[in-house]
Amino acid sequence: MGVLPDLPMTHAELAARAAQAMPPSVWSYVSCGAGDERTQDANVTAFDGWGLIPRMLVGAAQRDLSVELFGKRWAAPLFLAPIGVTGLCAQGGHGDVLTARAANQAGVPMCVSTLVEDPLETVAAEFTETPGFFQLYCPTDKDIAESLVRRAEAAGYAGIVVTLDTWVLGWRPRDLSTANFPQLRGQCLANYTSDPVFREKAGFAEGGNPRDVVGFWASIFGRPLTWDDLVWLRGLTELPLIVKGICHPDDARRAIDHGVDAIYCSNHGGRQANGGLPALDCLPDVAAAAGDVPVLFDSGVRSGADVVKALALGASAVGIGRPYLYGLALGGVAGVVHVLRSILAEADLIMAIDGYPGLADLTPDTLRRVTAAR
Ligand SMILES: Cc1cc2nc3c(=O)[nH]c(=O)nc-3n(C[C@H](O)[C@H](O)[C@H](O)COP(=O)(O)O)c2cc1C
Repeated sequence: MGVLPDLPMTHAELAARAAQAMPPSVWSYVSCGAGDERTQDANVTAFDGWGLIPRMLVGAAQRDLSVELFGKRWAAPLFLAPIGVTGLCAQGGHGDVLTARAANQAGVPMCVSTLVEDPLETVAAEFTETPGFFQLYCPTDKDIAESLVRRAEAAGYAGIVVTLDTWVLGWRPRDLSTANFPQLRGQCLANYTSDPVFREKAGFAEGGNPRDVVGFWASIFGRPLTWDDLVWLRGLTELPLIVKGICHPDDARRAIDHGVDAIYCSNHGGRQANGGLPALDCLPDVAAAAGDVPVLFDSGVRSGADVVKALALGASAVGIGRPYLYGLALGGVAGVVHVLRSILAEADLIMAIDGYPGLADLTPDTLRRVTAAR
């Protein structure tokens, strides 16, 4: 009716406007990847290599995109991937809380990063019906790791996502060339500075300042996790345990043998190791290896069409990463909700038009390799 939307309707415009809205150092951190960023770019273009085959006369007037995961029915097979600078992406610096509010409004579960501007309890206070998950960057110090897990349990998180691919940071030339790493400026460390065990070990005097909180944080940030650590982590909590960063079917099988509740196939959006396969290319084998165990997926998802393709290739739920940060930067809560609803609306319409009314209809057979050169 001629009333124009305030927020972008395409991913390209969303990213372009977010680039203008964010401070340059935040935009650089959010948009950059490892090495020459080929893996990061390939994550996105990998979706172009697949096409859905439409089926007619199905009459898919009603669609059901809901999915049962970890004993709860999710309204849609989507979640917000954990992103460590979410806090900084909103005007005012409370992006984690605003994103949690948006997740609740949109009914899309949020996975809250270890690296936040507001402590995990403050973020969790926004969740009602829609569950929240806590993503753990496992510190070298087991006591601090345990303390974070206990706090997540007490705050009501529905599962712990342990990120396996980031015990050391990747080679990120764009950030290196601008000496840009928010945490080393003391940002996004609220979960640590609010943690009693961290505070004690960092030498916070009662009510006083620590000697060198950032230096101490850097010294304990990432534990080079091994299979033995997975035994320990599994024993640490009865919450669903999800391992993020699995791209090889053997790792999926072995993690399942260790008792994890879900596999999270991802290459961290190409930010950690360049020279890798697009995450989407890893998904079918990981999903086959996982069998009945749920498989979460992210890396390169930019549209509803991408969501449908990832579901068809075996994902149980699909993680939205950078796009929601861009929505957050442009419109706060409304911006994140807009991004999620737009992606969901497109996925739903594709399923309607292509005659796939439910998630069970989305099998690898619904896809073919695209042969035409682009
Ligand atoms: C700026 C930024 C920060 C991130 N921080 C985290 C994090 O704290 N924990 C984590 O497990 N993954 C983190 N990730 C990875 C995301 O969870 C997800 O795997 C990735 O964004 C997917 O790629 P895409 O955004 O290009 O789709 C981060 C990604 C970005 C872009």
